[in-house]
Amino acid sequence: MTTTDQPGGGCPFGHGAPAAAAEAPAGHHGYEPFAMKDPFPSYAELREEQPVMFDERVGLYVVTRYDDIKAVFDDWETFSSENAQKPVRERGPQATAVMNEGGFTAYSGLSARRPPEHTRIRAVAQKAFTPRRYKALEPAIRANVVSQIEAMLARGEASGERTGEMIADLAYTVPTVTILTLIGADVSMVDTFKRWSDSRAAMTWGDLSDEEQVPHAHNMVEYWNECQRLVAAAKENGQDSLTGDLVKAQAEGAEITDHEIASLLYSLLFAGHETTTTLIANSMRVLLQHRDQWESLVEDPKKIPGAIDEVLRYSGSIVGWRRKALQDTEVGGVPIPEGAELILLMGSANRDGERFENADSFDIARPNAREHLSFGFGIHYCLGNMLAKLQAKIALEEVARLVPQLEVTDPQDITFRENISFRVPETVPVAWAPATAGTITNQEA
Ligand code: HEM
Repeated sequence: MTTTDQPGGGCPFGHGAPAAAAEAPAGHHGYEPFAMKDPFPSYAELREEQPVMFDERVGLYVVTRYDDIKAVFDDWETFSSENAQKPVRERGPQATAVMNEGGFTAYSGLSARRPPEHTRIRAVAQKAFTPRRYKALEPAIRANVVSQIEAMLARGEASGERTGEMIADLAYTVPTVTILTLIGADVSMVDTFKRWSDSRAAMTWGDLSDEEQVPHAHNMVEYWNECQRLVAAAKENGQDSLTGDLVKAQAEGAEITDHEIASLLYSLLFAGHETTTTLIANSMRVLLQHRDQWESLVEDPKKIPGAIDEVLRYSGSIVGWRRKALQDTEVGGVPIPEGAELILLMGSANRDGERFENADSFDIARPNAREHLSFGFGIHYCLGNMLAKLQAKIALEEVARLVPQLEVTDPQDITFRENISFRVPETVPVAWAPATAGTITNQEA
């Protein structure tokens, strides 16, 4: 299916362009940095017409071809990730004051750190972040998924409307409870962590005015304080959790400071649910729109892992990620000056016809779907990719089992948050036919 949605409104703001920046042509080939409704036609035009384009509105070189993006990800010595967490929109004076007064000193856990620091911290994190830890969580994840779906069905049946909303009713809670459990945080704080995470996404990758930033700045302070408190608590009480493993590793001589552990939690308590919420939401949104493929997956759930990779390729949770050039260099033959910042549009790489046949078609049997770049590539490759996929797999298995007749309603009306990196649908409304209720009862019996 070729996407046809129109790009939404843009948001120019004055960021200083690197001195040697190339002239950007008028129009930017339809690319609007923060508009997420349907960026794919503009990505296609960029790949074709200007695969490396300087966008003066955001001060970023926009890179759109698969091979170029993979090469930049792979060359960490030339292209540093140190700007990955830098606010796209400069922090205003009031927000800065709030954060300074609140003692906000959080730094990226891993994604914006460079070797050798990155190598050292990632080695410690990787030891704590074992498949054993999250495999052990699998039964709890499944129980949570089932109870969320059953609650949605019960509400829908009781009201007689038989409608639900996949984010509020499933995708919001499941990954958040999972990461809070893994970290040893209070699982009753799901809404609080979601609020803090929304603030972090808006403050770093959004387009807020100085005034709009202020309430988010307060949230960031609370969020960081909680990360520090969690480290202190794990040190004091010992804990069978990922935080407990990290402080234990430290006590046994691993080279990692309390501040670095708290920074890791600061990363995980965001990265560990935000993008998985989106993956589950997108899986439902896209699969239910491709009815024949949904039905074949219901019939044969072994197809689910392949389908998840195809969702990640076709409609990834993160469509753009940043890098900074540490020296004069080039990408795809375009000179890039030292200090220039780039945004690698993985959402475009994943639709590059040079890599994926019929790239605009959604196909759960695509043999090379796993080559998508939605988890990045190279030394920063997503640490949580297996946990994300595990949760999406369980969610799809249980929806397919409990409510196979689910349908997405008015998919063309779904809106997406304004953001330069995260492509997040606001809602995924669904409905089911009455016959489903009988199916559920039969299957549960
Ligand atoms: C669909 C879900 C997810 C997506 C699309 C995603 C995407 C990404 C991307 C694009 C990066 C940057 C890669 C790079 O710079 O090359 C990244 C890094 C990272 N992700 Fe994920 N992620 C997801 C889920 C998770 C989960 C569930 C966790 C943790 C529980 C997690 C933890 C991390 C961490 C710690 C890093 C930094 C790794 C490093 O710099 O060494 N992510 N992820």
